[in-house]
Amino acid sequence: MLHSVLVHSPATLSNLGCGFDVFGLALAAPYDTIRLTRRTAPGISIRHLDAYHLPTDPVRNVAGVALRALLQAVPEEMGFDLEITKGIKPGSGVGSSAASAVGAVVAANALLGNRFTKMQLVEFAMEGEAAASGARHADNIAPAVFGGFTVVRALEPALDIIALPAPPLWVAVVHPQIELKTSDSRQVLPVTVPLGLAVRQWANVAGLTAGFLTADYDLIGRSLADYIVEPARLPLIPGLAEARTRALAAGAIGGGISGSGPSIFMLNRSEETAQAVGAALSSVFAELDIEFNVYVGPVGTKGAYVVSEE
Ligand code: HSE
Repeated sequence: MLHSVLVHSPATLSNLGCGFDVFGLALAAPYDTIRLTRRTAPGISIRHLDAYHLPTDPVRNVAGVALRALLQAVPEEMGFDLEITKGIKPGSGVGSSAASAVGAVVAANALLGNRFTKMQLVEFAMEGEAAASGARHADNIAPAVFGGFTVVRALEPALDIIALPAPPLWVAVVHPQIELKTSDSRQVLPVTVPLGLAVRQWANVAGLTAGFLTADYDLIGRSLADYIVEPARLPLIPGLAEARTRALAAGAIGGGISGSGPSIFMLNRSEETAQAVGAALSSVFAELDIEFNVYVGPVGTKGAYVVSEE
């Protein structure tokens, strides 16, 4: 019987332009490192081995909430010691809370002999995400569990997730250090959508899916455009229009708001281009005098996985 496992759980992009609340993409890095160890006493103890001062109370910590949801589906009484090392800065717009929640349930599943399906792990991790953001959504959780490119086709009446491979891509993400809560970023969204815009949007959703499946980078670039959500969020994200202009000039395929922002992502054909695009994104926020971080990394083919076990 396994006693302890170490898991890496990746950063993810959600929405991918046109696919609000539906599309997700796993990155290979950065990732959170999760160590989960069985203990004899029931319950969950949490330690953070990083400097972000996140809550360690299991009912307030996203990974703790996810683990509690999983434990409710386990008949035997058991307890865990959870150690989290955040490689993904909280609030960075690349699925930080989803990574911790997913890492914890993937680790627990390994300790329990892999009795749960990936779809069940998404359900458990979503409880953690809901605690963090106040809304049930799986667009960061799904790629963190399955890897590659994911489509959350439905949450109700049953979770329906399609996991697809992604072609080789490099991602550049800039995270301007401005506070933008997901709840505020959702508040500005339109309640109704004109049919003409909806048609253009779902044409892009189909185009982007086809582009990923056929590795047609030009089609991906054309199809990323978001006619519904981005225009509403544009005033909340200074520098977005200029960031896109400079990124495209530096060779990016295309991009948009990462999740609910304020981060901006750009997809690229190569590492070299992604680095140049990262520099182009940086130049915008340096000129605006807004502090920022930049991540450059390849798309991840796998979701959270066990690195070592004992
Ligand atoms: N799909 C969600 C949104 C992602 O755009 O609000 C939140 O991280």
